Amino acid sequence: MISPVRTAIFPVAGLGTRFLPATKATPKELLPVIDTPLIQYAIDEAQEAGIERMIFVSHPSKSAIERHVMDDAKLRADLKARGKPQLARDLQEASFCPQTDDVVFTMQHDPLGLGHAVLCARDFVLPGPVAVLLPDDLILGQGCLAEMVAAYQECAAGHMVAAMQVRPEDTRKYGILSTTGRQAGQMIKADGIVEKPSPDVAPSCEAVVGRYVLDASIFDDLANQDPGAGGEIQLTDAISRGIDRVGLAGFRFSGHRYDCGSKAGMLRAILHLATHDPEYHDVLEEHGLRQSSAKAA
Ligand code: UTP
Repeated sequence: MISPVRTAIFPVAGLGTRFLPATKATPKELLPVIDTPLIQYAIDEAQEAGIERMIFVSHPSKSAIERHVMDDAKLRADLKARGKPQLARDLQEASFCPQTDDVVFTMQHDPLGLGHAVLCARDFVLPGPVAVLLPDDLILGQGCLAEMVAAYQECAAGHMVAAMQVRPEDTRKYGILSTTGRQAGQMIKADGIVEKPSPDVAPSCEAVVGRYVLDASIFDDLANQDPGAGGEIQLTDAISRGIDRVGLAGFRFSGHRYDCGSKAGMLRAILHLATHDPEYHDVLEEHGLRQSSAKAA
């Protein structure tokens, strides 16, 4: 079956203030989780989901993102000349070629909010629903977008958002779904989203995280929307406005999500990867984060 979700939008134009000064000259989306930038994980996830067109909504000061994403023939030639042909092949494999890959870069000149960034992609999307991936939400394990796209084909709702259970005291950090109680497999039917509610008024503990599959009518809702919280055009406001018309579902993904927009979340993701890679086990032992294999035996 051909996937109805052909376009992925990557909003990467934000200021990344929580990571200053690291993000003064380096875009947040290029911060590495050990050796792989956040944006690369999101691209790999979209490719696994069978996305045809990738649209990056960036900012002129963040041109390093384009340099990372696109092929660099000069760098590859230099690596080959220095006897590193495998490294050159690996880089080519992971990057896009302007002649053969369907990649668009467009600019959001002022960071007017996530919803506004998504709206900036409007003129470039292929027909049908679109996927939106926030690269600073790193989801490891099973590819989240591929799971969502597969479920979307069975789902009656036009808007689908990735959802995970959070502790009641953490509801104020997320958009929280108002659920109807009906659940089918990993899908939860919802009739609203409340932005960052305190625990006493939160309608549930199902938090929305940075993966969305959205009905194409989202662009009309975004275009006709006034600024919301923080004076920004909020994506959740536009999703809420479409619920009566197209429906909303949460999707409980199988992987594990790391909030790499925060320093603690980034550290957790790095420690998780280090724990699973024998190359770093000595380092973890030095810091008492892992028992030495000799002691464990
Ligand atoms: P965040 O709110 O996490 O990113 O947006 P931020 O604003 O860059 O970071 P902080 O909070 O100041 O540290 C999630 C994603 O949406 C993009 C960001 O680049 C990030 O990938 N974004 C956000 C935009 O593209 N435009 C915006 O106006 C806002």
